[in-house]
Amino acid sequence: MSGEFVGLSAIVTGGSSGIGRATAVHLHARGAQVAVLDLDPSGLPEGVAGFAADVSSRPSVAAALAEAAITLGGIDVVVNNAGIGATGTVADNTDDEWRRVLDVNVVGMARVVGEALPWLRRSGHASVVNVSSIAALNGLPGRALYSASKGAVLSLTLAMATDHVREGIRVNCVCPGTADTPWVGRLLAQAEDPAAERVALRARQPIGRLVTPEEVANAIVYLASPRSGSTTGTALDVDGGVTHLRVRP
Ligand code: NAI
Repeated sequence: MSGEFVGLSAIVTGGSSGIGRATAVHLHARGAQVAVLDLDPSGLPEGVAGFAADVSSRPSVAAALAEAAITLGGIDVVVNNAGIGATGTVADNTDDEWRRVLDVNVVGMARVVGEALPWLRRSGHASVVNVSSIAALNGLPGRALYSASKGAVLSLTLAMATDHVREGIRVNCVCPGTADTPWVGRLLAQAEDPAAERVALRARQPIGRLVTPEEVANAIVYLASPRSGSTTGTALDVDGGVTHLRVRP
């Protein structure tokens, strides 16, 4: 095994699908021992360990992390990727939906890192990467609750990076644009005209196509890498140019 992650152990939440799965594969390929924490950890790629966990439950996170840390021999890298979506304006989501999405998308990250801190503090290359979204930086239509959750992830990243910098724990986030994952497949399937919706999503992308899960995974692995030791408290856009480019239609 070769690569900059040899000797390091990584946790990826929501690693059974999409961006998380691609991240687990990349980390493993670069030498990390990898454990996925997911509601359904079945069917993982070869060499990746799976542990059933719900990031909205403290006991579930604590038990799975403890088991994973023993299996891997520690925790050096945490990728907070598990997340759920929501559509609608502030007029559309119930209070229970608000509580549920914020609980999974924001509090879930605090739970996972809170429980992983004792191991991260022991690591010589501790790093956390949170998965935010372009929704944190752009006003997207019909995404009030989801955007609020991802904006909170961005702010939480900066606060965590500050709190733990003196302990040698780096904290960064990625802000992906629309990525071609099972999640987006499900969103498209709900649209009145899925083919037209896919064309509209693609047209929004200055690069003319959706982002791939592998491209997001590559950015996550870059931030997590011990070679990125001076990078903390940053947000890396992986969005095909959506956030900052203004191309002529
Ligand atoms: P996905 O739906 O393909 O995968 C999400 C994974 O998270 C699934 O394996 C699911 O079982 C797991 N999960 C969901 N709730 C969980 C919980 N309570 N506890 C543990 N695991 C749980 O989604 P995708 O597209 O790969 O998204 C991953 C992350 O990327 C999410 O945080 C999402 O908000 C973010 N993102 C996705 C974008 C996209 O266009 N696909 C764009 C920007 C951000």
